[in-house]
Amino acid sequence: MTPSQQELFDAAVTAMERAYAPYSNFPVGAAVRSASGVVYAGCNVENAAYPQGWCAEASAIAAMVSAGEREIVEVLTVCRSELVGTCCGGCRQKLREFAALSVPIYACGPDGIRATFTLDDLLPHSFGPEHLHS
Ligand code: THU
Repeated sequence: MTPSQQELFDAAVTAMERAYAPYSNFPVGAAVRSASGVVYAGCNVENAAYPQGWCAEASAIAAMVSAGEREIVEVLTVCRSELVGTCCGGCRQKLREFAALSVPIYACGPDGIRATFTLDDLLPHSFGPEHLHS
């Protein structure tokens, strides 16, 4: 892992350990690096009214936007699944709002990076902000 990936990984694992996931028992952590270089992390937060829960990526994006930033340059997610845990469809679209299609997304298990994708790999032929401004 590069130092940059390690910083994202450490932040995402810490967030995963704080996840509120009593219904799925599937804690997830996410970390995004903004254009300024700062890392913002988040976890999934579930709810007794199941559809009201939200994903780790959404928490990380909200932390970044709340801090006044709008551009994501690197993304990392971590979960304890044996399968490669890629971002859900909704989170791919949420990332699309703030990340270029070339932005790398590292899908991790507790042991480290299992797969690397670009946002374009995960969300091909996507709809984004520029469609509304052309
Ligand atoms: N989850 C995430 O946090 N990110 C994803 O991209 C996939 C799913 C969460 C939502 C829910 O709290 C739990 O994982 C099981 O779906």
